[in-house]
Amino acid sequence: MIPPKQRHASSGPFRSPSPIKDERILLVGASGLLGEAVAGKIPPTSSTILPRELTKRIDEAAIIEAVGALRPDILINCAADTDVEGAEADDVRARAVNALLPEALARGARAVGAQFVHFSSTGCYGDWKSGPYVETDAVRPTTAHHRSKVEGEERVFAAHPNALILRLGWLFGGRPGLKKNFIWNRLLEARGAREIKSNPAQFGCPSYVEDVVEQTFSVIENGRAGLFNCVNNGDAASRLDYVVEIFTAAGLNIPVVPVEFQRKARVSPNETAANARLAELGLDHMPDWRASLRAYVASLPLVPPLEPEA
Ligand SMILES: NC(=O)c1ccc[n+]([C@@H]2O[C@H](COP(=O)([O-])OP(=O)(O)OC[C@H]3O[C@@H](n4cnc5c(N)ncnc54)[C@H](OP(=O)(O)O)[C@@H]3O)[C@@H](O)[C@H]2O)c1
Repeated sequence: MIPPKQRHASSGPFRSPSPIKDERILLVGASGLLGEAVAGKIPPTSSTILPRELTKRIDEAAIIEAVGALRPDILINCAADTDVEGAEADDVRARAVNALLPEALARGARAVGAQFVHFSSTGCYGDWKSGPYVETDAVRPTTAHHRSKVEGEERVFAAHPNALILRLGWLFGGRPGLKKNFIWNRLLEARGAREIKSNPAQFGCPSYVEDVVEQTFSVIENGRAGLFNCVNNGDAASRLDYVVEIFTAAGLNIPVVPVEFQRKARVSPNETAANARLAELGLDHMPDWRASLRAYVASLPLVPPLEPEA
C-alpha cells in the first residue's frame, strides 16, 4: 500500500509554449489519445503525419527512407501498443510497436539531424519502492508490456543519444468516444449503475493529456534531451481515488466500492512518480491533477442519465 504523499506543486508561472511554428514536425501515432492531442497543438503548416502503411510492418530501411524523404526537424512518436493484458500471452506485437518501431524512427530522425521525441511509462519502474519514483531510480518492470517499453527506451537512446523520452502516468482527456478516454468511459459505465467497483490498492499519477503536450513542447523549446518523468502534480491517487474524483467533478452520487481486480499482467501497485528532473531544471509546469481533471470534466458534454437496472 502506498501512503499518499504530497509532492511539490508546480513552481513558477506557466509559460504556455508558443506552437513550434517554424519547425517541420513529423508525427507518428496521430490517432491515439496522446497523438490526437499533439496533432491538435501543431500548426497544420508545420506538421506531417507519417502514414500508417509505412509503420504497419516494422521495415527499418523503409521507415528510415520515408523519414529521410520528409526531412522533419522534430519527429514525435505517439504510436504504442498499449494492450497490457494481451502482451502477457504474446509479446511479439508489443515488442514490435514499443521497441523496434521507435528504434527505426529514432535512426531515421538521427540520419536527418532531427530531434526525436518518444513516450514511455512510469510503470517501467516496477514494484520495489514505497514512494514516487524519480528518473535516477532503477527500472525493474513487472509486465511484458513494461519490459517492451524499457526495451524501446534503450533502443531509442542507442539509436539517437540526444533523443527526448518522457515517462508518463495514467493519461486522461481526449474527445468523448475516443477508445482510451478513461473518464468518458467511467461516466458511461456510471449510467444506470448502482455502484462502481475500483481498485484501492493500485497507485499512480493521473495526468491530463493536454498538460503533457504543453509540458513536452516546453521541454523541446528549452532544447533539452534525455529522460524525464512527466506526470501531473498533486497527491498520489489510487484507482479508487481517481474514480471518486471523476464522479465528484461530474456531480454524480454513485458509491465506488473497493475491489482488487485479478489481472493477467502483474502491474506494479506503485506507478507513482515525481518530475524530479523537470523540477531541477525549473521546467516543471505540470498542474495538480485534480484541478486539471475538474476543468476537463466541466468541458465535457453531459452524459444522458439512465435509470439503474432493477
Ligand atoms: N494511456 C496511458 O495511460 C499511458 C500511460 C503511460 C504511458 N503512456 C504512453 O503514452 C504514449 C501514447 O499512449 P496513448 O494512450 O495515446 O495510446 P493509444 O491511445 O493506445 O494510442 C496508440 C496509437 O498508436 C497507434 N499504433 C499502434 N501501432 C502502430 C504502428 N505500427 N504504426 C503507427 N501507429 C501505431 C494506434 O493505432 P491503432 O489504435 O489503430 O492500432 C494508436 O493510434 C505511449 O507511448 C504509451 O505507452 C500512456
